[in-house]
Formats: sequence, structure tokens, C-alpha cells
Amino acid sequence: MTKGKETYYATTPIFYANAEPHIGHAYTTTLVDVATRFHRLKGDNTYFLTGTDEHGEKIQKAAEANNMSPQEYTDMIAGKFKSTWDSLDIRYDDFVRTTQERHKKVVREILQKVYDNGDIIFGEYGGLYCLGCERYYTDKELKDGKCPQHDTKPEYRSEENYFFRMEKYRPWLQDHIKQNPDFIRPERYANEALGILREPIGDLSISRPRNRVPWGIPLPWDENHVTYVWFDALINYYSALDSKNLIDEYWPHVNHFIAKDILKPHGIFWPTMLKSAGIDIYPHLNVHGYWLIDQGKMSKSKGNVINPLDLKDKYGVDAFRYYLLKDMHFGSDASFSEEGLAERINSDLANDFGNLLNRTLGMLGKYTEGKVPGITKIEEIDHDLISSFTKLPEIFTEYFDNLEFDKAISAVLEAIRKANKYIADTEPWVLAKDENKKARLETVLTNCVEALRCASILLEPVMPNKTRELRKQLGIKNIPFNLASAAEWDLVPVNTQTQKGEPLFPRIDLEALKEETVVKEVVLEHKPEVTIDDFAKLEFRVAEILSAEEHPKADKLLVLNVQLGPEKRTIVSGIKEWYKAKELAGKKVIIVANLKPVKLRGILSEGMIMAAEDEDGNLSISSLDRDIISGSEVR
Ligand code: MSP
Repeated sequence: MTKGKETYYATTPIFYANAEPHIGHAYTTTLVDVATRFHRLKGDNTYFLTGTDEHGEKIQKAAEANNMSPQEYTDMIAGKFKSTWDSLDIRYDDFVRTTQERHKKVVREILQKVYDNGDIIFGEYGGLYCLGCERYYTDKELKDGKCPQHDTKPEYRSEENYFFRMEKYRPWLQDHIKQNPDFIRPERYANEALGILREPIGDLSISRPRNRVPWGIPLPWDENHVTYVWFDALINYYSALDSKNLIDEYWPHVNHFIAKDILKPHGIFWPTMLKSAGIDIYPHLNVHGYWLIDQGKMSKSKGNVINPLDLKDKYGVDAFRYYLLKDMHFGSDASFSEEGLAERINSDLANDFGNLLNRTLGMLGKYTEGKVPGITKIEEIDHDLISSFTKLPEIFTEYFDNLEFDKAISAVLEAIRKANKYIADTEPWVLAKDENKKARLETVLTNCVEALRCASILLEPVMPNKTRELRKQLGIKNIPFNLASAAEWDLVPVNTQTQKGEPLFPRIDLEALKEETVVKEVVLEHKPEVTIDDFAKLEFRVAEILSAEEHPKADKLLVLNVQLGPEKRTIVSGIKEWYKAKELAGKKVIIVANLKPVKLRGILSEGMIMAAEDEDGNLSISSLDRDIISGSEVR
């Protein structure tokens, strides 16, 4: 095990302040929380930074669409991120917002340095721009002419801007990546970055005309231009520390965590910016995959954007955190499903972990009046159990250092399963019948208590509440609680009074769950080409909305009563963010009328309303420009 106090500075991306947090954001942030909690357990000096990305055209437009000023709007969204992180027990040290003075000041200083270095030039540029990503795309990067992240056609733009001479640093960056295998990890993303660098990367447009995009940081040498949002945003990782005089302490130890969607800005723009500004390059960029739903991306129009708070409310914060960490292998995509989450809770947490605690406390209550009896008669089988636990901190640390969080957790679960098997093998209920075997019974029970104590330390970063509750039920207090003590045995004092409480992880009824999932619709992401026969299978019709009301169990859904010819139907639709229930009555809309009805959070939906979705996920329902009788077919 790595000994001694290290310094660990970890960051999440700063999330765009144009939408509420979803499970993708929650994943990276929980992951960084778990990583920093783990380092704290090791005794390291840690610092955790998160925040929101608040400038630029996209945010400006989102604010306008909500009839708010950009500042009011970003205040509101930043508040939602903060409260979500509080609810998920995320313990960050600092929350940076790019609209804060402390950040703007550093951005201007760094810009000035790069400018003074001769690395900024003025020129004209034309290219294909994706507003969702807030960046230009090269033809090669596009997929069938569309942005691979948003599946939308970028628009052609040409502007007079300032440019950062990024191309100049290409050979240096290639060498740096090749010589530092830990710089971008896992390796496949270092290879992806090298792939980008194989061809000229061009110079980076780093300004926008202020008359078109006023919402940004003016360039220090030309107030008619504001800083391009990525040049502004990336600097947060440095500005937040700088504003608290923490650069010397933490900057050399930064670990950036991002998903693969923003590899290019982090792997290419950011190091070249730092190099030009004369700042040391960050040591690690850790890149994870995407949580997919039904094999595709989450999107507002599909109604499958998952709010982490819904899951937390339904399953508890610790179980949700556990699932996120356990079911994604760092670097690869993972498939989110609520059934998967429930099954994970039942198998690992209720059956294995919770069960070990219940059985141990049950037996202590029955045989020793709930008191921890102490270890007196060790046998071979005990050594096996003890070493499975005491070697865990070392294994766990190795996996964490390799970013294999899922494997670290699996290693603990494996030991917990061994402990359950140990109970079955040692048969304490048989030992209890024989007064001569009292010492053996006591040893077995105490070993179970120790196993739980060690597991509770290792799982604390992932499940801080349940592990605390577990220690409370075991009566554990005032003994060392750190990674080193998880490698020791026999620390719980003899006669410690245990107290059986509520089960830590109640089992989820999987049958009942099928009716009540938080994930809503299943829509194909990879749209296959359709023939006219395929198209003919769908029945589009005109429906008149008679009335609408809010879904009693979902924040984002409306329940619509519609007239479809002679028939009345109920349709549950995810348009609440864009339409008030009372303004919908009387509207005639186009629906898909022959979809198989599905229950959406308890209410049967008998059709789907057609709506247009823009790049930012804003919806507009299609209405008809002439009055036409409801029930009419649309072809
Ligand atoms: N504002 C920029 C980042 C600037 S950092 C200097 C941005 N924001 S974002 O809101 O779009 O967040 C992107 C990040 O959110 C991803 O890199 C990842 O951390 C997280 N995720 C968003 N969707 C995700 C999934 N479906 N799955 C996993 N993580 C995802 O880009």
C-alpha cells in the first residue's frame, strides 16, 4: 500500500448552466466525491473542485427562452446544481462559477500572458459550428455531416476573431502524450488525442464579437470581443485555486475527470493553453465513458433524461451512489436501467452486505446479549477470512490508482461473500448448543464483527451514510477510522454493546417496480432507414387537447386528455417545461395514435405527441395552420 501523505486535487467538468443536473453529471461528480473521500481515508491532503460554466451564446439563449437575464438564469441553475450535490452527499471544497469576479480576473491575466507571448493573432475564420458543443468541427470529425454529440447539422459561420496559435504546440503535445502514459487515461483516449494530433489542428478561435455574444469576458486588449467559452471555462481549474492562493499546494497534483465528449477541449486546447501561458501542464486527465439509456443517449425529447434526485428519493442516496460506481467500468460506456439498479441493490447490498450485518447482529443478540465477545480461539478457517479482509486496503488502493473503481468495490463484495460463507461453514448455531465450544462461538461472531468493520471503512467513500449506520448498530466508536485500520484485525473492544436496527438495505420488489419506473420511454437512438412500408405502420392523427394537468408523480410530465375522432384518450407527455397545462386546452396537435400503451409513472399513456426539438433540447409541439377535425389522418 502507498504510504505517507500525498496531495490529491480532483476536478469535475464545470457543467453548462443551461439545464438541470442529470445522471451523467451526477456520475462524474459522485465519482470525484468517492475518489476524494478515499484519499481522505488514506490520510492524503485532498481538494475537490466542481462548478458551473455560465458564459456564451448557448447560455445567453437559454436565459432568453426563459425570460430571464443571463445572470438570474445562471444563478438559478447554479443553485440547482449545488442543492443536487448536497442531496447526493457530495462534499466539494469549492464551487466555481465562471461569472465570478475571481475567475474573470484570472482568465484576463492568462489571456494577457498568451497575448504577450505572441500566441494570439487576429483573423477571419469560416467553418461549421455546433452550438450545443460551442465549437467548430472539421469535416472529418462530423458523422454524416452531423455533430457526433448532438446529431444535429452544424451551421456555417464566418467571423473576424482572435486566434490562439494552437497548431504551433502540436509537435510538443504529441511528444508529451507519448512520453507520459499517465497523462491521458485510459490509454484509448490518449490514442484518440494522438489521432487528432496526427493532422494539423489549426489555430483556435478564442473570441466572439461582443455585439453578437455580449455574455462573456471581454478580452483585456480589445473590449469589442469576449472570450470564447471554452477558453474561459477551462481556466476554472486554475482560477479557483489561484483565488485562494492554493496553486502551489494543489496545482501540481491535479486529476481532471471528464467524459469522452469533451476530450478534445481538455486533451488538446487545455494543455496547449497552459504551455503558452507558461503554466505547468496538469498531470492527469481521466476520461470515462457515457451512461446510455436503451443503447442511446439521453435526450429531453425522448423523455428519458434521468434526474438523479428521483432515483435518490426512491432508492436512497447510498444505493444510488453504489450503483453508479459499481456498474460502470471506467473508460467504457455503461447502460443505465432502473431494473439494473434495483437488482444491484438486491444482490450486493441486501443479500450480501446487509445480510451479513443482520445475521451477525441477530446471532450476537441471541447468544451474547448483543455484546461483542472477543477473539480467543482462532482456527485455520479464520486466517483465511482475516487475510481476505486485511489485504483489501492494498488491493483497493491499487484499483483506485488504476481508476478501476468497479473492481475495487467488487473486491470488498467478494470478501463480504466469503464472510457469509464463513458463517455457513462454521455453523455458530451448532457451536451454541455445546458449552465446550463457547470460545469458538465467540471467536466466530467477533470475526464477523471485524469483517463488517473493515468493509464499512472501505465502502465509506461510496456509501457514507449506510456505513455510518452500520457502525452505529455495531456500537463502534472511538477506534481508528482510516484506511490503515481497515488492514488491522481485532480492534473492536470486548463487550462493545451492539444494537440491531432497521435493515440497511430493504429488498426491492422487482415485480412492482416494472409498473413504476423512473425511466420513461424507449425510443431507438440509431434511426434505421425506413421504407414506405415501415412508415405506413405508424398512424399519425390529429388530436384535440381537451384538458391537461400536471402528473401527480413526475416533475416534468403533463397528463393530457385528448379527443381523437369519437374516442377520448390519455397521453402522458414530457412537455411540461415548455407548456403550462392550462394553455394547452383547445390546441390541435399531431399524435402517433397506434403506439402500444405504456404506463408512465403509474398513468397509462395511449399515444405520443409529435414535437420539434432544437439543439438545446427545447420542444415545440406541432400544431396545424388550418382547423381540421380531430381524428383526421396525417400522411
Ligand atoms: N461546460 C462544459 C465543460 C467545461 S469544463 C471546463 C460541458 N458541460 S456539460 O454540462 O455538457 O457536461 C459534460 C460532462 O457531463 C461530461 O464530460 C460528463 O462529465 C458529464 N456527462 C454528461 N452526460 C453524461 C453521460 N450520459 N454519461 C456520463 N457522463 C456524462 O461539457
